[in-house]
Amino acid sequence: MTSASQTPSIKIAPSVLPADFARLGDECVELEQAGVDRIQWDVMDGRFVPNLTFGHDVIASCRSAVSVPFEAHLMIEQPDHLIPNFIEAGCEIIIVHAEACLHLHRTLAMIKELGASPAVALNPHTPVDTIAHVTDLLDMVLVMTVNPGFGGQAYISTMEPKIRETRLLLDQADHWIDLEVDGGISSATVSGAAAAGANVLISGSWMFKHADGKAAAITELRQLAHEAWTSRES
Ligand code: DX5
Repeated sequence: MTSASQTPSIKIAPSVLPADFARLGDECVELEQAGVDRIQWDVMDGRFVPNLTFGHDVIASCRSAVSVPFEAHLMIEQPDHLIPNFIEAGCEIIIVHAEACLHLHRTLAMIKELGASPAVALNPHTPVDTIAHVTDLLDMVLVMTVNPGFGGQAYISTMEPKIRETRLLLDQADHWIDLEVDGGISSATVSGAAAAGANVLISGSWMFKHADGKAAAITELRQLAHEAWTSRES
């Protein structure tokens, strides 16, 4: 059992989906200099989601440009055969979708055996108890606050009770498990997500479009998330 009142580290991570793909390495350097805790790569296969992005070779080409951890958000049907490539490309955290894995327990165990951090993503319609029997293998759960496939979508606030339910489940584990949210995260939505129990916040379009730049965006999100999380304990 982890302490429900445990104050975790708040982690702010960008999705590079809105980045200029012609300058991905430079964009990663700018994000690291702006103070991100890690970088999320939204990998889309055009089947699990109706969009297509980049593969492990693109990620590998950016690996040596920065030292912040990379996480691969695999929006890929049946990802097992590609997971070793993403780890080899330098992704420390591998996020698979519960809906995309025929044998989720086996997939998560494989990620762990390969030395990466296993994480699972849940689409908005997917119930929390889908992961009830694999929390021993998890370092993180991603509760999607949009339907996956595109950046710039509206935050689905009805996911907040699901975030709370997920946090309660993860607090039953014998180790800390991060709770990440992704989709429509901005200064207007981060407090609701963090107050519900999210400590890892993914932001794409809002961070890239912030009028005062990425560093200001990161600072603002971190401050709001920390205030919201501590309000949970009072
Ligand atoms: C959806 C993607 C997006 C992206 C962030 O498949 O995963 O959620 O990371 O998008 P924004 O922050 O622009 O909503």
